[in-house]
Amino acid sequence: MGPLQLKYQLPLLLLFVASSFFLYFQRTSPVDTNTGTTGLPNMKVAITGSNGRVGKRVVLGALARGYHVVGIDHSALATADDRDLGANFTFLQTDLRDYDETLKAFEGCEAIIHLAAYPDPRDYKVVVHNRYSVVDGELKFNQGIHSNVVISWNILRAAAELGINRIAQASSVNAINLVYSQQPKFEFFPIDETHPTLPDEPYGLSKVIMELQADTIVRRFKDMRVASLRLHWSVPSRAFATQKANATLVKNDLWGYVQEDSAAEAFLLAITQPTDKWPSASEAFFITAPDTMHYKETSELIKEHWPDVPLKDGKKLDGNIGLFDCSKAKELLGWVHNNDAPSSSVPL
Ligand SMILES: *[C@@H]1O[C@H](CO)[C@@H](O)[C@H](O)[C@H]1NC(C)=O
Ligand SMILES: *[C@@H]1O[C@H](CO)[C@@H](O)[C@H](O)[C@H]1NC(C)=O
Repeated sequence: MGPLQLKYQLPLLLLFVASSFFLYFQRTSPVDTNTGTTGLPNMKVAITGSNGRVGKRVVLGALARGYHVVGIDHSALATADDRDLGANFTFLQTDLRDYDETLKAFEGCEAIIHLAAYPDPRDYKVVVHNRYSVVDGELKFNQGIHSNVVISWNILRAAAELGINRIAQASSVNAINLVYSQQPKFEFFPIDETHPTLPDEPYGLSKVIMELQADTIVRRFKDMRVASLRLHWSVPSRAFATQKANATLVKNDLWGYVQEDSAAEAFLLAITQPTDKWPSASEAFFITAPDTMHYKETSELIKEHWPDVPLKDGKKLDGNIGLFDCSKAKELLGWVHNNDAPSSSVPL
């Protein structure tokens, strides 16, 4: 018999069992550790895809709030962007398809805003979703920035590993099946988060999977809160959207858009607002303008293009009202679309 005598073993075993229960219930108790504790001026936030169109706006918004920003992108920082970002901005050129690199990049951060992704199905095959190939007998990711679902899991899992509990990730209106689909099928207007997400193409699928990854990670890491923001076409202004829209495509896109700085604000709210009213720890939100970018009245557009889609009870299509209902984002994130969002005058 070892040094531990039998008479000590039973009490030790009981102590072990008791402490296990204690730890178990501590971990699973419904304490919302996130309420009102984030958003301090010196908070350190990682922003992936920081060189991207929306990413740049989020970086500016975060710096304007006094946050310390770690900008992360696969491409080198363009010198023009380096210009005015100041001492509170650090840039890391990182391949987020590599889990260890991802872990290293997020060290010391308190929140993550994840925007890095390839934003378009391109080949309608594998490029965006999960691109890889066999090189010299080894499975390797191809050159390029693709592999949305690999990156999104790396980010969530690295956050869990580092105890980073607030994450906002860029999903897309295409999660429901929209502009890239062969023929979208809408169950009702206006579209809200109860609408089915049934994409027929790899970009929308990568967004649905990203939302499922978030649902999955919060089951195991119970202090994490993940907001998946389903952004519409992000543009500097409604006038820009009207001017640049592709007349063939906008019908399937439901003539939507979102002002880019207002979209950026949604990400900042999603990592700082209290989460105690969220129905679950992982929630999706539509983030679009409340109007369409079309000059025609919405009821007219619907009569012409989507005459068979029913209106939800109690909803009316006044004027140029948009076909997405963002009241969930208003209620739970305090987000309201703003066409004159504060930093839109900042040149890039
Ligand atoms: C950097 O952040 C601090 C708050 O943490 C703020 O007081 C300071 O003004 C910021 N500096 C710049 C250059 O924005
Ligand atoms: C509009 O989109 C269609 C379908 O993808 C494409 O064939 C066409 O070239 C686009 N038009 C313009 C002006 O970009």
